[in-house]
Amino acid sequence: MPERIVYMDYNATTPLHPEVKKALVEGFDIFGNASSMHTLGRKAHEEIEKARKVVADFLGAYPEEIVFTGGGSESNNTVLQMIDCGSATCRCMSKGRLGLVTTQIEHPSVLNVAQYMENKGISVAYLPVDPTGKVDMEAYKKALAKSPALVSIMMANNEIGTIQDIRTLARMAKEKGALFHTDAVQAVGKLPISVHELGIDYLSFSAHKLYGPKGVGILYVRKGAPYCTFIHGGHQEEGRRAGTYNTLGIIGLGKAIEIASKEMDEEVARVRALRDTLKKGIQDRIPDIHINGHPTDTLPGTLNVSFQGVEGESILLYLDMEGIEVSTGSACASGSLEPSHVLLATGVGPELAHGSIRFSLGRENTIEDVNYVLEKLPSIIQRLRKMSSAYSVPSLGRSA
Ligand SMILES: Cc1ncc(COP(=O)(O)O)c(C=O)c1O
Repeated sequence: MPERIVYMDYNATTPLHPEVKKALVEGFDIFGNASSMHTLGRKAHEEIEKARKVVADFLGAYPEEIVFTGGGSESNNTVLQMIDCGSATCRCMSKGRLGLVTTQIEHPSVLNVAQYMENKGISVAYLPVDPTGKVDMEAYKKALAKSPALVSIMMANNEIGTIQDIRTLARMAKEKGALFHTDAVQAVGKLPISVHELGIDYLSFSAHKLYGPKGVGILYVRKGAPYCTFIHGGHQEEGRRAGTYNTLGIIGLGKAIEIASKEMDEEVARVRALRDTLKKGIQDRIPDIHINGHPTDTLPGTLNVSFQGVEGESILLYLDMEGIEVSTGSACASGSLEPSHVLLATGVGPELAHGSIRFSLGRENTIEDVNYVLEKLPSIIQRLRKMSSAYSVPSLGRSA
């Protein structure tokens, strides 16, 4: 048995906040169908509208601009598939132009949908990024010159944490008449966000990244922005998303956001300090590493490190034996032997990319956790490097 369990995979998912758990337990009795006219139905409806208001206030939106969905992947699919929703009468996003502009470092729930749209004949531009993960602005200007219908750029990257300047990117898109979507699944609750100030049209978010339940999220849709229904059926969400309401999930999402609105500033500062201690500790103790991502414009709890000459999977398994739970990239990409598309896009070579670990910290982490990782990690890397034929070059040839 390991001495301690240290969960540092908060970008993959988060445990329920105790207050969210309490709200969910109480919510189990609110079983009425929120579309029913009777008292129990109206009670469920009330809870949903309460959560909608909390989310809208937190994001600086109007309640009617919030559509509840089944999570981040559904929200992303809903927006991207609007480019060609299949309806003969659809005029929501004009066709015949460069359809979509996105980046090479998006989550698979954007990249694979972009690929799907390409297969349907929509043209897509995948913007490169610089070594810190920031969008290449020259490439962006060129892509915008082709008058795309939609731009989709993530607010913060799930693997390396890099934060994009969404306000500027959205303004540039608007100037060219394009609609702007941001996948903010990793950003909500970690960065202050006001959708109206950012000038965006759509935003995706998922509750399980912020101590809420899994399988529920939101799509912000600016009032007046084009919209096509993705899940057809009943007329829930004003006909924008069919399906009996996930009342319990929505109650949990609302509670998670309510807590974030009170605790965010303090919690972000605390987690950032822990991450910085971990980063410095690794830099001080382990040679031949590369820190991935942007040095300052980065999520507070994310630290992505490449260790030369070792396989990320081996590090992960050795850490797991010590009770330390991390990831080699995004949870959605694990299981794949391909090096991370995000790291490759930032110019990290395939070998180094294979030796990368993502530490993502959150609300239950303490300084004792960080010290425990710093105690265990150096000897694991040393042991693996001793066994590795790939670890012979003393220096990386790249600045950390
Ligand atoms: C940036 C980003 N977008 C989208 C998603 C997908 O969200 P969900 O798990 O709610 O479908 C994730 C989850 O890993 C993510 O990190």
